[in-house]
Amino acid sequence: MKLANAAATGILLAVLLTLAQFGTRAQSRIVINADLGRDTISRYIYGSFSEHLGRCIYDGFYVGEGNKKIPNTRGIRSDIVEAFKQIKLPLLRWPGGCFADTYHWKDGIGPKDTRPSMVNIWWGGVTEDNSFGTHEFLDLCEQIGADPYFAGNVGSGTVEELAQWVQYVNAASGPMASLRSVNGREAPWKVRFWGVGNETWGCGGNMTAEFYANQYRRYATFMTASWVPGGLYRVASGANSDDYHWTEVMMRDIPHGLMEGVSLHHYSVIDWNRKGSATDFDEQQYFTTMQRAMFMDELVSKHSAIMDTYDPKGSVGLVVDEWGGWYDAEPGTNPAFLFQQNTMRDAMIAGLTLNIFNNHCSRVRAAAVAQAVNVLQALALTDGEKLVLTPTYWVFDLYKVHHEALLLPLRVQSAQYTVAGSSLPAISASASRAKEGTVHISLVNIDASRAQEVRIDLGKLRVSSAAGRALFSKTIQDCNTFADPNHVKPVEFKDFQLSGRDLRVKLPPGSVVVLSLR
Ligand code: AHR
Repeated sequence: MKLANAAATGILLAVLLTLAQFGTRAQSRIVINADLGRDTISRYIYGSFSEHLGRCIYDGFYVGEGNKKIPNTRGIRSDIVEAFKQIKLPLLRWPGGCFADTYHWKDGIGPKDTRPSMVNIWWGGVTEDNSFGTHEFLDLCEQIGADPYFAGNVGSGTVEELAQWVQYVNAASGPMASLRSVNGREAPWKVRFWGVGNETWGCGGNMTAEFYANQYRRYATFMTASWVPGGLYRVASGANSDDYHWTEVMMRDIPHGLMEGVSLHHYSVIDWNRKGSATDFDEQQYFTTMQRAMFMDELVSKHSAIMDTYDPKGSVGLVVDEWGGWYDAEPGTNPAFLFQQNTMRDAMIAGLTLNIFNNHCSRVRAAAVAQAVNVLQALALTDGEKLVLTPTYWVFDLYKVHHEALLLPLRVQSAQYTVAGSSLPAISASASRAKEGTVHISLVNIDASRAQEVRIDLGKLRVSSAAGRALFSKTIQDCNTFADPNHVKPVEFKDFQLSGRDLRVKLPPGSVVVLSLR
């Protein structure tokens, strides 16, 4: 009996020892295949979206030339430009969204006092005075260093109107080039990215996929490409989330010589009728948002599989030009303006989504988080002269190392994050090798309360030094406010051990970590 007790004690001790070592034992495993890199991560995956909606354009980007209180260049606020330069924002979509299919670009050029006004029918019925138009938007893009991505009006416009817009910004000569120069701009801007309508299945005209595909063929035919090096990048208005039929029809019915991309929109929404607060949410709501965000992986995989069938060589890109979290507007603000705070939950959405896009970069060639300033999952919030950079912004800052880097494929075997009996993988990851050789691994731990240990097998990578940056906070509800703008900010991260090809990392709860390996 005593012997049996001793044996039992021995076993117990062994178990306890093992448990004690558990702190260094990895729960999740990642294997990086550094020698299998083939695809480059387009920087355009890291784009954003600016719509004439609420305070995105006016107040957000543009405060007017005469503004003496808020520092600006030709009316464009300098703090936003600086912030977006810092993250190397590569692409900015404009003027919508739903607004795009009501927008007539000629109303937004020429002397401001002669520009006609219109009603913004989608977003609160406010008067749009067109003081921010084509020249102002392209000035903004030039100040940031971002490529402009125009959304053309198909729903209420004409083929001629869109064809002339292409000429107005791109033509070296001809009537549209002359008009441009009368309005103060001699040199063409050479705008490459063009959306042909927006959500044409909904606010863009309530069309069927078949009807729109035929319309697209007419519009794209007259969009002259010859002035733009490399030609235009024309994007067909694509599917709403899991409408796979839509993608099938675009790929089947539009000649691929007329289309460089097809879009996809997906928002992480708990319930369209009860979206919930942006800041005051419980763990169940958080978990549901994570489920919706992770659904992007299935969406991108299935839409890509359809595209592969019709376009095995991959000439047409998938352009996810609206994505992000969507909650109730902040109490006390106009609900039609879609102004919402941005917490660590949004940082999780961003980290997960950008990892998904990186890992699917062979098909996903561009994307735009909705939206850039003061609307939905914004990168920045403004209040008069005050500016807040959101947790989402800081994820874009951490991930900029992936721009134009070679994707390194990896396999993730993740521990589970379980809430009320449902589980999701706790860990998401992507890795790339920059042109100068540094390898970057971006890791997300969505588990709101538990740190996660990850053991990374670096395979054939030879690494002599490692450094890290991380974004995390006390709670997943934490955010930056106008009173406390630096509450959530990346910090140096050292909670990892490197030993040969074995890299062990301890990810804090609700964190985004980027490791740089040399
Ligand atoms: O981003 C807000 C709106 O969401 C866009 O205008 C529209 O395209 C989408 O439905």
